[in-house]
Amino acid sequence: MKHTDIYDILNGKVGLGQTVTVCGWVRTFRDSATVAFLEVADGTSFSRLQAVVDKNAVALDSECAKNGASVCIKGEIVKAYKGNGVELNAREVTLLGKCPPEYPIQKKRTTLEYLRGIPHLRLRTNTFTAVFRVRSVAAQAIHRYFHENRYYYMNTPIITASDCEGAGEMFRVTTQPYDAKAGSEEEYYKNDFFGRKAGLSVSGQLEGEVAATAFSKIYTFGPSFRAENSNTTRHLSEFWHIEPEVAFAELPDIMEIAEDMIKYVIRAVLEECPEEMNFFDSFMEKGLKEKLLNVVNSKFGVIDYTEAVEILKKADVKFQYRVEWGSDIQTEHEKYLTDVVFKRPVFVINYPKEIKSFYMKQNPDGKTVAATDLLVPGIGEIIGCSEREADLDKLLAAMRARKMDESAYKQYLDLRVFGSVPHSGFGLGFERFVMYVTGMENIRDVTLFPRSVNNIM
Ligand code: 4AD
Ligand code: MG
Repeated sequence: MKHTDIYDILNGKVGLGQTVTVCGWVRTFRDSATVAFLEVADGTSFSRLQAVVDKNAVALDSECAKNGASVCIKGEIVKAYKGNGVELNAREVTLLGKCPPEYPIQKKRTTLEYLRGIPHLRLRTNTFTAVFRVRSVAAQAIHRYFHENRYYYMNTPIITASDCEGAGEMFRVTTQPYDAKAGSEEEYYKNDFFGRKAGLSVSGQLEGEVAATAFSKIYTFGPSFRAENSNTTRHLSEFWHIEPEVAFAELPDIMEIAEDMIKYVIRAVLEECPEEMNFFDSFMEKGLKEKLLNVVNSKFGVIDYTEAVEILKKADVKFQYRVEWGSDIQTEHEKYLTDVVFKRPVFVINYPKEIKSFYMKQNPDGKTVAATDLLVPGIGEIIGCSEREADLDKLLAAMRARKMDESAYKQYLDLRVFGSVPHSGFGLGFERFVMYVTGMENIRDVTLFPRSVNNIM
């Protein structure tokens, strides 16, 4: 159908007096004896277009007046009666699809929780059009950032035989029926599709390292899968993961890159999504724009894990989990550090090696690794980052300490045999980043069809 995007009409790409055809969904309807006003949205812009219908001159099907109906309106662009904008003087209104009164998107019932139950329709609300427009703009900005800085975009496999994070949180990929006769796991998987145990990748890092040791600078941007039983507002079973990997980079280098990228993308969102960001600032998180401008204009904090533990131990707060050197920093602790102590993003560096992954570079102290998590106010961890262990013997020792199956990592280990180099990378959880820039508080509200424990709508 030949028609004009509402975005173009509202943004001055169509001159006054021109005749256009607009297609979209009716969002509000008002009328008097002689005039009807239809607000129409087509999703191309945050604002809607008002169509004015002279009821004496234009035939108007009563179905066109229903919230949610899809319509096609031909008319002339004129200066709006009120304000500086434009509106559509309708000459012809055609019904495309009627919308019965059971339409679940009603003004009175718009809690985010209720809308989560209708993921196929919630995108037609202001909140969700704004979220997903920002999500799209942020994704484009991320690609642009890496492209402009000469990183190559790699697509790492989704089905894999190695568990990158070694946390046993992989979804299994199998075509086999249950076989009670199999004597061992190995025997069971021998007859499976790949002839060995396979699963959905939790991270593209291991393959990313392969690419980085040929191209120097690469990134991935794809889905990762985690079968962790965490029913929280910041965990999904399927999330999108941005993972740059950089050769000849040490921990401080990769932290600089992470900070630069985050600031670049926030700037892009503020510039490209002004209406959406005003909306979030008013309705989701008061002061959001100011918060983001501060992030863009100041240095992120850096604190050593050991120091962070000292701060947490002295904190005048009752935490659910006690902190001791060597224990994991829980969400409540992360929030204390970001929301109370730093009030801005902060890198926690040099974690105890026992609580982090096998591939991280071991520090000379023998106790910690050159790893960092980037924590942000309101959410906690959004980036997991580290320099990688480039020394074959040290890497092998770390794998043996974790009783890992070395045979599944032969190629990964080879990178340390043939021209090993210092290299580092990080993983940014895309949904958590979108939460941070929009002020949305539940990760399920920044994902089209969220998957989590007991939830696959
Ligand atoms: O900290 P993680 O587990 O690190 C890695 O996977 C590394 N291999 C990354 C790398 O160095 N290339 O995950 C990285 C980020 C987290 O900081 C978080 O933002 C996000 O991925 N993430 C999740 N997001 C949503 N739901 C989940 N279940 C997530 N698990 C991790
Ligand atoms: Mg992590």
